[in-house]
Amino acid sequence: LCILVLHGPNLNLLGHREPKFYGTVTLDDINRLLVEEAQVLGATVSCLQSNHEGVLVDEIHRALGKHEGILINAGAYTHTSIAIRDALCAVKIPAVEVHLSNIYQREEFRHHSYIAPVAIGQISGFGAESYRLGLQALIRHIRKSKG
Ligand code: DQA
Repeated sequence: LCILVLHGPNLNLLGHREPKFYGTVTLDDINRLLVEEAQVLGATVSCLQSNHEGVLVDEIHRALGKHEGILINAGAYTHTSIAIRDALCAVKIPAVEVHLSNIYQREEFRHHSYIAPVAIGQISGFGAESYRLGLQALIRHIRKSKG
């Protein structure tokens, strides 16, 4: 069971960027945490970060036939990208949306997600733990739907 983990724009700066919202954990720390958690759950993850919307769309397309689930923090594209939402719909791979910060405690423009309606669910506000919880939920969902 192989999960694609997608990190969107500016998440490469984690650890330095607005620690008030995002803490001091780095993207490498999060990826390590996910590799370990996947191992515990008998799965694997491939992690990828991009600052480019089209690259994220391409990676979602490439997941077809390779990955059974997508864990995605689309960063600011969460609030703007119909293209990423359409890509998720097109490939029909179950996806879970995650955010480090609680997007509902922040500016109004972060309250809307284009991705949430096409995701299984959304986890927001638990820092790096959002990813761990998201991975657990995604893997459980996939196993359950396989019967
Ligand atoms: C974020 C929340 C977004 O609103 C923001 O643009 C990000 C990070 C989060 O993980 O909390 O880049 O997705």
